[in-house]
Amino acid sequence: MDSIIVTGNGPLAGQIPIAGAKNSCLALMPATLLSDEPLTLTNAPRLSDIATMTTLLQSLGAEVSALQEGKVLAMSSHDLTSHTADYDIVRKMRASILVLGPLLARYGEAVVSLPGGCAIGARPVDLHLRALEAMGAELDLRDGYVHAKAPGGLKGGVVEFPFVSVGATENALMAATLAKGTTVLKRAAREPEIVDLAQCLRKMGAQIEGEGTDTITIQGVDRLHGATHPVVTDRIELGTYMLAPAICGGEVELLGGRRNLLAAFCDKLDEAGIEVTETEKGLLVKRRADHIKAVNVTTEPFPGFPTDLQAQMMALLTTAEGVSVLEEKIFENRFMHAPELMRMGAKIDVHGGTATVTGVKKLKGAPVMATDLRASVSLILAGLAAEGTTRVARVYHLDRGYEHVVRKLEGVGAKIERVHGS
Ligand code: EPZ
Repeated sequence: MDSIIVTGNGPLAGQIPIAGAKNSCLALMPATLLSDEPLTLTNAPRLSDIATMTTLLQSLGAEVSALQEGKVLAMSSHDLTSHTADYDIVRKMRASILVLGPLLARYGEAVVSLPGGCAIGARPVDLHLRALEAMGAELDLRDGYVHAKAPGGLKGGVVEFPFVSVGATENALMAATLAKGTTVLKRAAREPEIVDLAQCLRKMGAQIEGEGTDTITIQGVDRLHGATHPVVTDRIELGTYMLAPAICGGEVELLGGRRNLLAAFCDKLDEAGIEVTETEKGLLVKRRADHIKAVNVTTEPFPGFPTDLQAQMMALLTTAEGVSVLEEKIFENRFMHAPELMRMGAKIDVHGGTATVTGVKKLKGAPVMATDLRASVSLILAGLAAEGTTRVARVYHLDRGYEHVVRKLEGVGAKIERVHGS
């Protein structure tokens, strides 16, 4: 297993290009199952999660070709050979559940393994299943699989989510495009990735209104046609790299970044003393003074502060002046980066879903362990500003969501290298 070695090296300067959104691409790819015509995605990120989704779609008989070194995904599900998503693929990535809605809508049947939990929580899929049942699906859970049927096709219905779920909104949205009649999704997720998916489905001929609000209305159609669609910029990669100059000092321009993708996050950075300026190429980020102010953070569904940036924000706040309180309201176990940051000298008190961070002058480099995707990158951010050298082990977690991390950070002056072996 590879490690990444980071040595604190002072202020950063330069530009970092931001890739297409992993979490949008993972929903856009299953949309190919909704049509027998080709769906092509551009600006796709080159990540191991995308490779996993590719393998899953190919296991169903779909064609997925990664062109231009993986930036373009040319897909076609004209001749599917299976409607079963096997456990050995699904267990690697929870987003695999997103083939359920499309398979059911197009073929009237699907057998999809339950994804199981992951490091950050149990992550059930009950909201996905309830939504499909509200559209007439008959579901039978046995041997760890969802056996789903919709013999006469799905029917439009009202889906009232008890709380916001990004994945359940995506599954229901895709299924509803081919359901007979009108479907209304209430308390729908509002993330930019939902808007991106709706825009792609509309290009394919779907009739959708209200994406980006908490109520989405879909008028089912008989069939969808092919399309070409660019994946939206990855706001989580964007926010992650915005924190590099915030933590180290200096000035970095994030190419492709737009403030509207991360308004609540930018407001928090502003409160902490970080200046974010929109340029025609992206977002320019630098500290206003040589110290960071402590701030309180509560993670919420979009447009609130994103849970996927909580670990990275904690890394920044470990050396802020004062005490910061971070509340993780989305997942039940998303503070695993805290003990690793404490090995670097951070002062963090975790009680349930609340972490209290007391700022220290400087962190000290140390050997640390990545536990999940966003925790791993928060350790790298901490290492950028720490005194001495930090070795982050098990960086395969990182490869799931960040392409070329070493190259991107080296490009702005960081002292960072990837070594083989743990
Ligand atoms: C998506 O996961 C993202 N993944 C996550 O990013 C992100 O953290 C999350 O949305 C929240 O923004 C992808 O898009 C591939 P949810 P998802 O359904 O859809 C519970 C990353 O780092 N829940 O909005 O799985 C769930 O357990 C990943 O890129 C149910 O109880 O998230 C969680 O506590 C991590 N039942 C909460 O709701 C359900 O049926 C929100 O989950 C569904 C969800």
